[in-house]
Amino acid sequence: MQPILSLVLVGLFCVTTCEEYFLPSYIKPCQLDDKNFTKCVKEQIEASLPHFTKGVPELNVPSIDPVKLDDIIIDGNGLTLKFTQAAMHGLSQSQLTDLIVKIGESDEDFKLAFKGNLSLTAKYEVDGRILILPIQGKGDAIVYAQGVEVEINSKLSHVKDKRNHTHFKLITPSYNYTVEKTTFDLKNLFNGNKQLSDTTHQFANENWRQLMDDLAPPAIKQIVRTCVKTINKFFANVPIERMVKGYKEP
Ligand SMILES: *[C@@H]1O[C@H](CO)[C@@H](O)[C@H](O)[C@H]1NC(C)=O
Ligand SMILES: *[C@@H]1O[C@H](CO)[C@@H](O)[C@H](O)[C@H]1NC(C)=O
Ligand SMILES: *[C@@H]1O[C@H](CO)[C@@H](O)[C@H](O)[C@H]1NC(C)=O
Ligand SMILES: *[C@@H]1O[C@H](CO)[C@@H](O)[C@H](O)[C@H]1NC(C)=O
Repeated sequence: MQPILSLVLVGLFCVTTCEEYFLPSYIKPCQLDDKNFTKCVKEQIEASLPHFTKGVPELNVPSIDPVKLDDIIIDGNGLTLKFTQAAMHGLSQSQLTDLIVKIGESDEDFKLAFKGNLSLTAKYEVDGRILILPIQGKGDAIVYAQGVEVEINSKLSHVKDKRNHTHFKLITPSYNYTVEKTTFDLKNLFNGNKQLSDTTHQFANENWRQLMDDLAPPAIKQIVRTCVKTINKFFANVPIERMVKGYKEP
């Protein structure tokens, strides 16, 4: 066939079908009845995670590194701490630590766990005490959270699109997490008084769990929400049959 003609034909073919459902080239469908199915899915996710976390504009999937966070306000136990313009960095460098995709049965489950070193950047404003020590200041903040592991468990439901293609959707996700260590870096604490600032930083970093008890839940909640939303955006744009070969409705 003439190269030009085949190009035109491929072009025509693509106008009618390729545009319908774009699948990034780094994703290869897995065969469902294959014993290696879970392994295949895991490899696919591992291979696509770095791309995926940077966003897939063709699939309307936004970047999740960084994840912009809503304001975080902690107010209680004599401490008022406010983070604004907050963003979480590092999801694209996270490692997949667990993945279970149970499909083709009546109860379809999805479990995903990842672990990484995340850092939160924000403008902070703090006033009050942490435990016994006074703390007061306002400026730029970086919170380094090391070894953050998040596990998301969800049911997979099916939704039909306008073209009668079936898509997965994560519903009623639940999650839990662990954090290995946290270091706080609050610039301009006590108006830049180095001695007071050093003492308070040392104390805060030694007692990081206390602070993270308040800080982590709203931050992780937003990260999980963003992850689930992103996965669902991907699912909404790629029918099951394009991702899983040999799939039959349970
Ligand atoms: C499944 O995995 C095993 C071990 O990794 C490999 O030897 C085998 O070829 C795989 N089977 C298929 C169908 O890919
Ligand atoms: C996180 O940081 C620690 C200490 O710097 C390092 O040992 C570990 O490999 C890092 N983990 C990841 C997933 O990058
Ligand atoms: C949608 O697809 C299902 C099976 O995949 C089929 O039974 C049904 O008739 C289709 N509906 C329409 C409106 O095409
Ligand atoms: C989440 O909870 C399950 C069940 O209790 C546990 O096995 C798992 O280690 C937890 N994961 C994290 C990241 O804390």
